[in-house]
Amino acid sequence: MQILSKSLPKHVAIIMDGNGRWASGRGLPRVEGHREGSNAIKRLLDTSLEIGLKVISLYAFSTENWKRPPSEIHSIYSLLEEFIDKELDDIHRKGVKIIHSGSRDKIPKNSLKKVDLAIEQTQKNKSIIVNFCLNYGSHAEIVHSVNEVLKERSNKEKPLDTKIKEKDIENHLYTYHLPDVDLLIRTGGEKRLSNFLLWQSAYAELYFTDVLWPDFDKDSLHTALDWFKSRVRKFGDVKQK
Ligand code: FPP
Repeated sequence: MQILSKSLPKHVAIIMDGNGRWASGRGLPRVEGHREGSNAIKRLLDTSLEIGLKVISLYAFSTENWKRPPSEIHSIYSLLEEFIDKELDDIHRKGVKIIHSGSRDKIPKNSLKKVDLAIEQTQKNKSIIVNFCLNYGSHAEIVHSVNEVLKERSNKEKPLDTKIKEKDIENHLYTYHLPDVDLLIRTGGEKRLSNFLLWQSAYAELYFTDVLWPDFDKDSLHTALDWFKSRVRKFGDVKQK
């Protein structure tokens, strides 16, 4: 007999794919797909607050997305700035805490300024953590973490040749203060992880849907969470956890 876990995921990570296809399917420029994608984020936050989710990570821009045409990169960062300008007060009022995972290098100065403002303004909020993954890639994150461990060791009493443990790497990931990912959602029909939270998703349940990100609504999130509830999670043990 299967025992079903009824609990909510502590950490939901989302690969928001399909903005471009949403737009081209309507004969619109790709930027319109990203614009609608940004509306979908707003909708997601409201639904997540309603449901009582506590941590959401959003893959907004990867370390590989710099390969895109400069005009598209520019429009994604402009939309991010617009999102913060328009939504920050409302988000703050609702108790959302904004954080960033990723490298600060290369992110346009103005976007960083707004992201920093959002982080600062919302730092004491407790309802939900929204982790904007910008200029984020798991490989870069793990390399960054190992370098931080080495840097720390070169300054401290621990000899450099002491073996690095899993906990050392975990403690220096961008997400060191967040729980591991329980549920990873990818919209847009592709079935891959695209360098997103690989360490943190080691035991995540992977949910792939054909729904394009701009169409991802309240029902889509509920469907994903219902599916999650039906999963038997054993984390390598023989018993359900
Ligand atoms: C993937 O879809 C989407 C992105 C790389 C960018 C995500 C950006 C947003 C949701 C809007 C930005 C706004 C904020 C607030 C961060 P795709 O372009 O790869 O879609 P496709 O596979 O259909 O081409």
